[in-house]
Amino acid sequence: MTARISRRQFLRYLGSGALTGTTALLAGCSWATGSRRTPGLKLVFYTDVHAREEWETPEALAMAAAAINREQPDVVIGGGDLITDGFQSGAETVAPRWDVYMGMHRAIRGDLHSAIGNHDLVGAVPEDGSVPEADPRAEFRKRLGVSSTYYSFDAGGYHFMLLDSVDIVGGKLKYRGHISTAQQEWIRQDLAAVPANQPIVLAMHIPLVTGFYQMTEGATAAAPANRVVTNNRDVLGLFDAHNLQLVLQGHLHVSELICWGGTTFVTGGAVSGKWWRGSWQGTPEGFAVLTLRGERIDWEYVSYGWKARRPANA
Ligand SMILES: [Fe+2]
Repeated sequence: MTARISRRQFLRYLGSGALTGTTALLAGCSWATGSRRTPGLKLVFYTDVHAREEWETPEALAMAAAAINREQPDVVIGGGDLITDGFQSGAETVAPRWDVYMGMHRAIRGDLHSAIGNHDLVGAVPEDGSVPEADPRAEFRKRLGVSSTYYSFDAGGYHFMLLDSVDIVGGKLKYRGHISTAQQEWIRQDLAAVPANQPIVLAMHIPLVTGFYQMTEGATAAAPANRVVTNNRDVLGLFDAHNLQLVLQGHLHVSELICWGGTTFVTGGAVSGKWWRGSWQGTPEGFAVLTLRGERIDWEYVSYGWKARRPANA
């Protein structure tokens, strides 16, 4: 199966601070994937919110939610890192950050689902003297009202699967990107009920595929184990007999699109940009908007107009 850019590719920047409260389309393309025709579906993928109380960032989250709602998406997917530094912090420390994030979560209208990010684990390896949590994913499940950090659902003829890509390993690395054996078994079972031609959308925090290190460090640079899913080929192999149309991924805070073998991989930038310091590697604070229509994927990265207020020394 081959893929091609079929219609347009453009880059357009619109102002900055003067556009507070507006959205700006930054890059986009229409992409023919070769899948079967199915009903259309508008999707917003926002990731790496890094909610916290400082630097008026709750205001940014309200702006982001309003901008997402203006897109009137059928489905909204959060890509994880919804809060800041849960992994190394105790539950009491991050409770106010969850409160801030949940304000955004409740403001978003539509069918909303979220993958878990490394920052969303609470008390995994505490560095603030608190006792490690027995179940660092419990707060995420409780706050978001889900029974598992990986699950599937159907919308508009598409089969969506959210995966948990974070594996706690401790030490210097702290965690690695990995899809557990249990999850792989769940994927097999879940796919058994999915028709071979039904388009599938996967979403997870840590990328399966990225060109980030080739673009930022050089063509031969390898990605660290805590920046990509280390067993990506095993995971992708589970979909060999299926129509994996789109993979949504976060973690790297850049907007990126890769097409390989009929599957489109989108890294969805970051609501927090460079961790609330502005743009990161050319990607400003924003989110991805995709329209899935039969064999086409229309993709855009949209800035919601935040002007960073994090002090340089913070
Ligand atoms: Fe992040």
